[in-house]
Amino acid sequence: MSTSKKKSILIKGGHVIDPSSSLDGVMDLLVQDGRIEDISPQNGQNTPPDYEEINATGLWVLPGLADIHTHLREPGFEYKETIATGTKAAVRGGFTAVCCMPNTQPVNDEPAITRYILKKADADGACRVYPVGAITKGQKGETLAEMAALAEAGCVAFSDDGNPVMDSLIMRRALEYSRIFGLPIVSHAEDTRLSEEGVMNEGITATRLGLRGIPNAAEDVMVARDIALCELTKGRLHVAHVSTRGSIRLIREAKSRGLPVTAETCPHYFTITEEAVAGFNTAAKVNPPLRSKQDVAAVCEGLTDGTIDVIATDHAPHHREEKAMGFDNAPPGISGLETALSLSLRLVSKGVIDLNRLVELMSVNPCGIMSIPTRKIAKGVDANLVIIDPELEWEVAPDLFVSLGKNTPFESLRLKGRVVKTIVYGDVIECL
Ligand code: DOR
Repeated sequence: MSTSKKKSILIKGGHVIDPSSSLDGVMDLLVQDGRIEDISPQNGQNTPPDYEEINATGLWVLPGLADIHTHLREPGFEYKETIATGTKAAVRGGFTAVCCMPNTQPVNDEPAITRYILKKADADGACRVYPVGAITKGQKGETLAEMAALAEAGCVAFSDDGNPVMDSLIMRRALEYSRIFGLPIVSHAEDTRLSEEGVMNEGITATRLGLRGIPNAAEDVMVARDIALCELTKGRLHVAHVSTRGSIRLIREAKSRGLPVTAETCPHYFTITEEAVAGFNTAAKVNPPLRSKQDVAAVCEGLTDGTIDVIATDHAPHHREEKAMGFDNAPPGISGLETALSLSLRLVSKGVIDLNRLVELMSVNPCGIMSIPTRKIAKGVDANLVIIDPELEWEVAPDLFVSLGKNTPFESLRLKGRVVKTIVYGDVIECL
């Protein structure tokens, strides 16, 4: 990333919202040399002689978003996505930081891989990249990875995402060791004995389509196990891509007992149901699978009442030809970075959450859970911001994604509210 002196920017008359700074009102923001220099209700600043003015009248100015669950695919799967294209997609979606999952080739289970990712991100990244290290070597679930060395190299969490850690003793040890570094263990909660061979949610739609189902219990039993192990070890447990009403109930109960458990869900789990798979639509194949209406309602309730802490994307880009295979063989995953914010804004317009809560879910809490620098709007802080036009209507057109992954079940959906500019450490990036 460039360290040269940056142009000053005056963001004028935007509605600035940041619950972590108790900001919620129309004001001007002055950014100088990459930092927020002044926040004032009117033109009170001593503007420097040479500055760029952004007219933010009618726009929202929020802290830059942080995605704690991104698959950047590099090294190894550059035909699906690269650090350069994935971070560009992130910025276009309003994200100024992403945490990248370790299911690359090779797996990020050694400090050399972590360092490679960080070096590449430094050279090619459009935003900050924070690697997540594997829990087990090769994500095979058999032997713990060198967690201390990975933490030392810069990993911010550990996960075998894409695969669960089926062996409970290994999960116990991972939670115990992670306490030494204070980093979370991110659980891909899936009992593969229950999900085995399943390709979509178990239920009437699967039966109608003649596809094998994955029951909610495949997720629920692992969430229950991981909560029990969290209670035993007091290690920090973060449950990834929560999709079922059962896991939400379990997480709610665990939190009420003060256990160090946090959870995320993704836009597809609160926007669409298993019915999106009709017609054998592989763009709607994802793991965990899209669930029922009742599950979607429970996810919304979890977002409202604080059971779910984070909206993450689980951005999982795949090549067109892979998704063109039959439903049974197509890889699971949704390209999510460029639609996440607009899909989440639907929750705001429906009154499920308010804008302050949205900022908590997509910026404040993600940074807190991963212990990465806050995207706070405050004087003296690095300028990581997103500017949104809440009235702008647009239609999801995957061909126009900057991500190499065009795999989205939201193609042709009309959405209201869109990122117009993202500011990454004081650099303004046009997003339209
Ligand atoms: O749908 C998914 N895709 N779920 C995962 O857990 C992994 C991801 C991927 O890497 O493609």
